[in-house]
Amino acid sequence: MDITFLLNGETVDLAGVDPTATLLDWLREERGLTGTKEGCNEGDCGACTVMVTDEDGAKALNACILFLPQLHGKAVRTVEGASGPGGQMHPVQQAMVEHHGSQCGFCTPGFVMSMVASHTNGATDHDTQLAGNLCRCTGYAPIIRAAQAVEGTPVPDWIETDKSFLLPEISRGAVEDRGAERPSRRFLPRNSDELAEVYAAHPDATLVAGATDVGLWVTKQLRDLDPVIFLSGCGDLKEIAITEDTMRFGAMVDMNRMGEALSDHHPSYAEMIRRYASVQVRHAATVGGNIANGSPIGDNPPALIALGATLHLRKGDTRRDLPLEDFFVDYGKQDRHPGEFVEAVSFPRQVDRLKCYKLSKRFDQDISAVCGCFNITISDGVVSEARIAFGGMAGIPKRASAVEAALAGKPWTAETVQAALPAFDADFTPLTDMRASAEYRLETAKAMLERYFAEDQGEAVNVLEVSA
Ligand SMILES: Cc1cc2nc3c(=O)[nH]c(=O)nc-3n(C[C@H](O)[C@H](O)[C@H](O)COP(=O)(O)OP(=O)(O)OC[C@H]3O[C@@H](n4cnc5c(N)ncnc54)[C@H](O)[C@@H]3O)c2cc1C
Ligand code: FES
Ligand code: FES
Repeated sequence: MDITFLLNGETVDLAGVDPTATLLDWLREERGLTGTKEGCNEGDCGACTVMVTDEDGAKALNACILFLPQLHGKAVRTVEGASGPGGQMHPVQQAMVEHHGSQCGFCTPGFVMSMVASHTNGATDHDTQLAGNLCRCTGYAPIIRAAQAVEGTPVPDWIETDKSFLLPEISRGAVEDRGAERPSRRFLPRNSDELAEVYAAHPDATLVAGATDVGLWVTKQLRDLDPVIFLSGCGDLKEIAITEDTMRFGAMVDMNRMGEALSDHHPSYAEMIRRYASVQVRHAATVGGNIANGSPIGDNPPALIALGATLHLRKGDTRRDLPLEDFFVDYGKQDRHPGEFVEAVSFPRQVDRLKCYKLSKRFDQDISAVCGCFNITISDGVVSEARIAFGGMAGIPKRASAVEAALAGKPWTAETVQAALPAFDADFTPLTDMRASAEYRLETAKAMLERYFAEDQGEAVNVLEVSA
């Protein structure tokens, strides 16, 4: 597989790239750029953060779960390239020195690169921007002070130049591994038509979208990906279409863009996405991957099911649509045929009644133990429609059909809510695992319905809003 990208301002052409080589390993082992650190090797600590510029702008990404083919046509900056060609420090680096933002220094390159990306984008929500970077010794206050100190300062010229690399003929991508001696089994299609063709011909291929799951198959399970198809060149799958009737998200829409697009329409869903992993993971993870992996604890499916979403699938030239909840057949089993891929997900425009409650052991950067999404419509004081879906309560994302039935047609009162609670026992038999016990899951799911009602009555229910 032949790829081209910009590394710290210099063009890199690589022939015969191993499709499962991560950027982190390549930087450290092939280029001697050891400033980028390896901590967890699974997207959790941010020590390996680099900045990648593509057509959507500058992004902090974790190099440990980023495969080299995903960089084709893009510009990469590591901590070695944060400073200028004459050795002048980036304003972020200068501020870290002045505010004593580093002690042992292991986390520092990752923090610096997250801060370089936020500085480039003018982002000032530093707690959110840095939630994916762990520091064990300095403490976060000096680091946040350094980030605040550079707010509004000019972006250095050498960082700005990365944008000019995005030449269309490069970012369009190569179709396949032309240099290989054996028939090619590594693909980088340029759009969804090419993807449909190549996947239909190689239905046993692994699709790689953001690699926030697949990356771990390689770094932790040492799996080989062959054949493999990278979706990163399929720009048409990144489209978001909002019409009068529908909101439609292409499979390759990443979590940060999804959150931004939802913020005006379904703010509670957007707020849940803010708690989806970290900025770095959200820049990579796609809605298509979050659905297609069939995880019972993915955050998007319950929210989308509660909104009445339709999944759009494609195989070759054949397309089919199905209600999203029908896609999840059983644990590890989805209604997806060989060679068929997720093209998009859509749901009807509607008055916002959606609340999403994500329960996890940590506020930031944690997978849900239980995720409850409630979309209950009230007409003249009566429940006219209830769509409720949960993650973490069964082997699949699942609707609470008995609870919905217990609410439908009833007056929207505390008594109705209390009367509906036993229906959770009919809907769910959750498991006990390291995230939560079965009893706790059931109890907390019931509490979420009570919370929805209380919130609807105007009570402050968010732990961040309630003060003693
Ligand atoms: C540190 C960390 C934190 C995380 N936190 C969260 C969290 O808070 N909430 C959460 O829900 N998840 C979380 N995840 C899990 C992960 O981000 C999601 O499952 C993610 O959405 C997967 O999307 P992706 O684009 O990275 O998929 P990939 O890893 O590229 O692919 C995942 C699977 O989907 C398949 N696939 C991808 N795209 C398509 C498509 N278009 N059609 C058909 N199949 C496809 C792939 O072949 C693969 O089987 C976390 C992961 C990490 C590493
Ligand atoms: S090494 Fe921890 S996120 Fe990459
Ligand atoms: S300075 Fe030691 S881990 Fe952050």
